[in-house]
Amino acid sequence: MWMMKNALGHYCLLCIGIVVAILGVLAITCTPGFFNFILKSELHLSESSQSYQVWKDTPVPMYIQFYFFNWTNEGELENANSKPSFEQKGPYRFNEFHEKVNVTFHDNNTVSFKQVRRWHFDPDNSNGTLDDIITTLNLPPLTAAFVARDWSIFMQGPLSLVISQTSKRHVTKKVREYLFEGYDDSLISLADKLPALANIEIPFDKFGWFYKRNNSDEYDGFFNMDTGADDINKVGRLRNWNFANRTKFFPSSCGMVNGSAGELWPPGQTKTNITMFSPDICRSLTFDFTEEVDVHGVTGYRYSGGRNIVDNGTINADNWCFCNGECLPVGVVNASSCRYGAPAFVSYPHYYMADPYYASLVDGMRPDKEKHQFYVTLEPTTGIPLDVAARFQINILLQPSRHISNYKRVPKVFFPIIWFEQRATMPPEMASSLLALLALPDNGAVLGLTMAGLGVAAAVIAISCLIRIKVAQDSQKSSIQLNSESGFPLMKKPVNGHKMPEVA
Ligand SMILES: *[C@@H]1O[C@H](CO)[C@@H](O)[C@H](O)[C@H]1NC(C)=O
Ligand SMILES: *[C@@H]1O[C@H](CO)[C@@H](O)[C@H](O)[C@H]1NC(C)=O
Ligand SMILES: *[C@@H]1O[C@H](CO)[C@@H](O)[C@H](O)[C@H]1NC(C)=O
Ligand SMILES: *[C@@H]1O[C@H](CO)[C@@H](O)[C@H](O)[C@H]1NC(C)=O
Ligand SMILES: *[C@@H]1O[C@H](CO)[C@@H](O)[C@H](O)[C@H]1NC(C)=O
Ligand SMILES: *[C@@H]1O[C@H](CO)[C@@H](O)[C@H](O)[C@H]1NC(C)=O
Ligand SMILES: *[C@@H]1O[C@H](CO)[C@@H](O)[C@H](O)[C@H]1NC(C)=O
Ligand SMILES: *[C@@H]1O[C@H](CO)[C@@H](O)[C@H](O)[C@H]1NC(C)=O
Repeated sequence: MWMMKNALGHYCLLCIGIVVAILGVLAITCTPGFFNFILKSELHLSESSQSYQVWKDTPVPMYIQFYFFNWTNEGELENANSKPSFEQKGPYRFNEFHEKVNVTFHDNNTVSFKQVRRWHFDPDNSNGTLDDIITTLNLPPLTAAFVARDWSIFMQGPLSLVISQTSKRHVTKKVREYLFEGYDDSLISLADKLPALANIEIPFDKFGWFYKRNNSDEYDGFFNMDTGADDINKVGRLRNWNFANRTKFFPSSCGMVNGSAGELWPPGQTKTNITMFSPDICRSLTFDFTEEVDVHGVTGYRYSGGRNIVDNGTINADNWCFCNGECLPVGVVNASSCRYGAPAFVSYPHYYMADPYYASLVDGMRPDKEKHQFYVTLEPTTGIPLDVAARFQINILLQPSRHISNYKRVPKVFFPIIWFEQRATMPPEMASSLLALLALPDNGAVLGLTMAGLGVAAAVIAISCLIRIKVAQDSQKSSIQLNSESGFPLMKKPVNGHKMPEVA
């Protein structure tokens, strides 16, 4: 009786062992699939997915820092022996908040939305106040002269008169006026009154780089983006900007709206490159993988802006169409048409990665990879952004004009005005949650292996015990039989390792 009960227990152990081992193997084989299933259902954009709230009301702290170039020798502009000289001022930091509005999901697996951005000055992290005085180039009259550069002398004559009567070449204002508040410019206020200015489209009543942008849902435009519901590899891909899949600002392939809208990226990023669309300069940008970096313990792939973004067709022949008619040395993007016809040229800060030509025209440029590189760091498995540093400088082309008297004797200079750094870094708490998520498949595998191991061990123990019992029973029987038949003591001590297979 004792043996029977014991055998039952061992059978139970065997069954449990086998079941646990099978579960363990299932855990090992299924966790990656399960993990991917979770990733896909949570990373695509729908009103019920985890990523929706994060995307709609970005919780990652973000800020923008502005640096101004204070023009220190504006009196010497016509002196051929001196170059425009600059002192960098700043940073002036603003905390930035993004919110998506008018979000509409469509049947074609896309979502339409607008974006509201809001800024709050952060005096503690700024080097200076919004009342700092900066001297720089006066943009409205220069824009008028640029727009009118191909007009007949009969039309440029009156314009020249208006400009010389109302405007100086330089302007001295407060930082707050250059950014969000804007300043009254006599040329802008005259624009709709004087026939000489009638053909110049000026969309604002004041001039300021971020004038009317705070709280605006119009400025960044209207987006239509893939949700990834049909194919997770499409999530975040911009399909239309301002209702079209191309812009009017660059011809041919350069005008295509390509790449991510910038916040959602598909999972499974590789060490190649990524593309995103920037409404600020009205074009798509491709960043190449450069290195692996660590952001609060999470390994990220860093993609950096290279010379291909500021190319003139020399590095990549496909970039010819970014020249917009007139190719320049590598280093600037012609953003004139995207900036209401102002002679605006966008470069990396301090002409980082640009042809030395640009920095040689002025004094005060100090390019530095650490401070001036533009990069996007993504966690490769999930595609979640870990650290983004968007850095661009706005330069204005100052060039001699035959018929506008104010600009007759000026040198040709790409005049640095302002550069900004928009930064978003995942905070440590979010990074730990992401680490835990990323550890799931590994934890599943460890759990599975442990279970399989324990299950197999239990089964082996159960089997060996059952064998022992069986052998003991058999030997009891056989010893009785043998004793009775031939008396040959065949298996007096049968429980012996190397005999087991025979018995089994
Ligand atoms: C900019 O330069 C001018 C002189 O050219 C000076 O008066 C002004 O204080 C400077 N601005 C700052 C913020 O240092
Ligand atoms: C703050 O600005 C001054 C001059 O404007 C500069 O000398 C100094 O290096 C700046 N400090 C920082 C921390 O950037
Ligand atoms: C967008 O949303 C705002 C409120 O958030 C609403 O007033 C406006 O009418 C909406 N516009 C469109 C085009 O749906
Ligand atoms: C998807 O459908 C919406 C609504 O009909 C439309 O506005 C949008 O342009 C479409 N997107 C694409 C990529 O076709
Ligand atoms: C932007 O608008 C908000 C109100 O929505 C205001 O509190 C903030 O000061 C404004 N920022 C700037 C830079 O004017
Ligand atoms: C862009 O839109 C046009 C029509 O507006 C369409 O014919 C074309 O196929 C679209 N191109 C892409 C790449 O979606
Ligand atoms: C820049 O773009 C504008 C508008 O597209 C064009 O007129 C101009 O020739 C281009 N290049 C330069 C160097 O101004
Ligand atoms: C393009 O850039 C290169 C390098 O800066 C320069 O040598 C070349 O002259 C430029 N091409 C044109 C057409 O300006």
